[in-house]
Amino acid sequence: METITERTFPVQYEQLENLAEQKMEKDVFDYVQSGAGYEETLRANRQAFEQWKIVPRFLTDVSRLSTQVKVNGAEIAAPILLAPIGMQGIVHEEGELATARAAAKENLPFVASTVSSYSMEEIASETHGVRWFQLYYPNDPAIAKSLVERAKTAGYSAIVITVDMAMLGYRERDRTNRYSPFLLGKGIANYEADPVFNERVSRSENASFLDEMKKVFYKPSLCWEDIAYLRSITSLPIYLKGILSAEDARTAADFGIEGIVVSNHGGRQLDGCIASLDALSSIKKEIGDELTILFDSGIRRGADIVKALALGADAVFVGRPYLYGLAVDGEVGVQRVLKQLKEDLFISLSLAGVSSLKELNEQWVQRAKEE
Ligand SMILES: Cc1cc2nc3c(=O)[nH]c(=O)nc-3n(C[C@H](O)[C@H](O)[C@H](O)COP(=O)(O)O)c2cc1C
Repeated sequence: METITERTFPVQYEQLENLAEQKMEKDVFDYVQSGAGYEETLRANRQAFEQWKIVPRFLTDVSRLSTQVKVNGAEIAAPILLAPIGMQGIVHEEGELATARAAAKENLPFVASTVSSYSMEEIASETHGVRWFQLYYPNDPAIAKSLVERAKTAGYSAIVITVDMAMLGYRERDRTNRYSPFLLGKGIANYEADPVFNERVSRSENASFLDEMKKVFYKPSLCWEDIAYLRSITSLPIYLKGILSAEDARTAADFGIEGIVVSNHGGRQLDGCIASLDALSSIKKEIGDELTILFDSGIRRGADIVKALALGADAVFVGRPYLYGLAVDGEVGVQRVLKQLKEDLFISLSLAGVSSLKELNEQWVQRAKEE
């Protein structure tokens, strides 16, 4: 395969995805690209973007537009964060280390997953960039506490608790391929490095790290009391990822957390559930500015970000696009994807007549008319 240069690096998302596919084993590519079930929600995420259209305003003087924003107290280059994606070592040997470095160079926050291929301390030692830690809440509060404390010590500035993972979604393509990077032990670095978990392993006879991790990893009993517990043990800001209803957003606000991520996990969990974009407007109406509202699932281009911001998001997470960049060209690939997205966002905002991010609201979008 030819070497990729700046000139040949794909601009179009679809070409990037194709190139990444050529670089990856089939089962790995399927794991990344697919959604749960019939992939109805995966498709709905994209369809929702096409159903909302931007209504541009003109003669607004966009010459002083800046995409810089403050999120969670940090000035970042654009309202874009790198979504937590586990086990990045399956697409590139440098995995999260490369991604975190690229994110820092672009001054965008990197959200490290619980199931990263490198431990949170190893990732932190690669970069001084803004970093958050995503928690899959384990079925052992002592491990939850330990992970969160380690995150704080390692300089992570927020905890993102993913709430839509009571168990793994029914992912037909992975089941067909009989592929699970989790069961192959590709995401155990944080557990392996955890003192509380190690103690647990040493107490259980003959259990391997992975066997023991399988016992505590999922917590189907996760409920609001667990969020209250976490709130009580950490001073780090907490964001709940996977919120799709105004009711849950309201409860989250009442629990005194800092924010939510409106997300359906990129269509990978409950198939048949609503498009993430379609959840935004009612959530924004319910909670206004009480919480920071982040958004993900389906962001591919700058115009998508404009629509999400107009519908109420303060910033967005991007997932698969940067992972494909990583697969294609490691750190450089991630950086190119981020640069392109930033530039596309800047141009899209300017052409929409947005002179300051603060003014962008629902008046900038309208539902496409039915034929
Ligand atoms: C390969 C892959 C692994 C993921 N791993 C995690 C994870 O470890 N934790 C998590 O909260 N979300 C995880 N997600 C979901 C992302 O954080 C995000 O919600 C989703 O990718 C956004 O959709 P997008 O890919 O369309 O941008 C993963 C997504 C993908 C594609």
